[in-house]
Amino acid sequence: MNLDAQHPLATGLTADSRLIRAYQGTRPDKTPVWFMRQAGRSLPEYRSLRVGTRMLDACLEPEMASEITLQPVRRHNVDAGILFSDIVIPLKLVGVDVEIVAGMGPVLGKAVRNAKDVEELTALDPAVLDTTLAPIRAAVARTVAELGATPLIGFAGAPFTLAAYLVEGGPSKDHIHARTLMHADPDAWAALMAWTAEVTGRFLRAQVLAGASAAQLFDSWAGALSLDDYTRYVAPASTAAIAHVRDLTYDESLAGPSAAGAASVRRNVPVVHFGVGTGELLREMHAVGADVVGVDYRVPLDEANRRLGGLVPVQGNIDPALLAAPWPVLEAHVLDVLERGRTAPAHVLNLGHGVPPMTDPNVLTRLVSFVHEVTAVTADAGDQSPPAAS
Ligand code: CP3
Repeated sequence: MNLDAQHPLATGLTADSRLIRAYQGTRPDKTPVWFMRQAGRSLPEYRSLRVGTRMLDACLEPEMASEITLQPVRRHNVDAGILFSDIVIPLKLVGVDVEIVAGMGPVLGKAVRNAKDVEELTALDPAVLDTTLAPIRAAVARTVAELGATPLIGFAGAPFTLAAYLVEGGPSKDHIHARTLMHADPDAWAALMAWTAEVTGRFLRAQVLAGASAAQLFDSWAGALSLDDYTRYVAPASTAAIAHVRDLTYDESLAGPSAAGAASVRRNVPVVHFGVGTGELLREMHAVGADVVGVDYRVPLDEANRRLGGLVPVQGNIDPALLAAPWPVLEAHVLDVLERGRTAPAHVLNLGHGVPPMTDPNVLTRLVSFVHEVTAVTADAGDQSPPAAS
């Protein structure tokens, strides 16, 4: 389905941005940068705005969610915004009893441990999201209007990561109940995953239709799985979730946005797939229908690129721990990540996981300008060598 003519990809506003070009596998003038969890507790302006408002309430307040989304874009000059929201929002909006406990994460009123619990949960109708997602659509629309040519990334949790919270009833180290359920009752597991894919897929699609220019699926806890379990019990549901946005397209004029009647090319909305500790799963995480693979800090990007067959744009993978190290240490690490990222068709610089809450935001700002500076392609040289290496 073609996006609405007013969508920022369709109008051309974000279609030629560094982020979208890199997600399409080409190398823009500078390596684009954004940070997972760039909005949030590392920013004093976030902490003061959030006083007195619970996390999930803030996500459902379009004006506040939009303002929080814009804060890191203004401050850091990053190449994308990511909607301030949470992976459990669509669960809450479909009727699941879930809250976010500060310092801990999502906590469910009731854990989903067996076939009867799954039946009860899946009786909640995903179609209610058509109306209950209204505050999310409003937050996206407001944000996109402010962002202009900077693309907004929409996101959702992958079915396994959501199921891990649902089955455990809250955060967990090894997700043992979820891993037991997939083997103990494969039918109940399949029903749970199919329902979760539908719920999270609708959340992702709503964000893109409302104006997001790219979509990222977070399978944060998939690293707990063996390759075999991932392939058999998880990948089909991730494919189903991504299918909710896989059909979304726009036409890009080859002569630029204002050249009416010129030849055009049909493009799809780029989809990024990210997980933590998923070095053994990179190929399969691409194969579920992603365009770009997000890599955590454990696997160097040249090795990730090798595992992906050399044809997939990569995103990552600064170790968040180094944000608190002395600048020369961080700088050397950034140059190494950029160098290894050069082996891939394209690279979007990010962290290997989210911004730690105690991060000095000035380090993030400096990091963005450093990456832009050292990756800038000079018009006449036409190569990508950073000044330090030439
Ligand atoms: O990246 C961004 O800036 C966008 C915002 C975003 C949030 N959650 C806001 C948030 C995104 C992309 C998420 C996704 C999310 N939520 C994931 C996948 C990404 C990842 O980190 O692996 C997961 C696993 C969750 C579940 C969740 N929600 C956790 C683990 C936590 C942290 C709990 C804590 O207090 O440490 C949350 C809460 C949450 N989501 C916060 C933010 C800014 C912190 C809430 C606060 O400020 O009190």
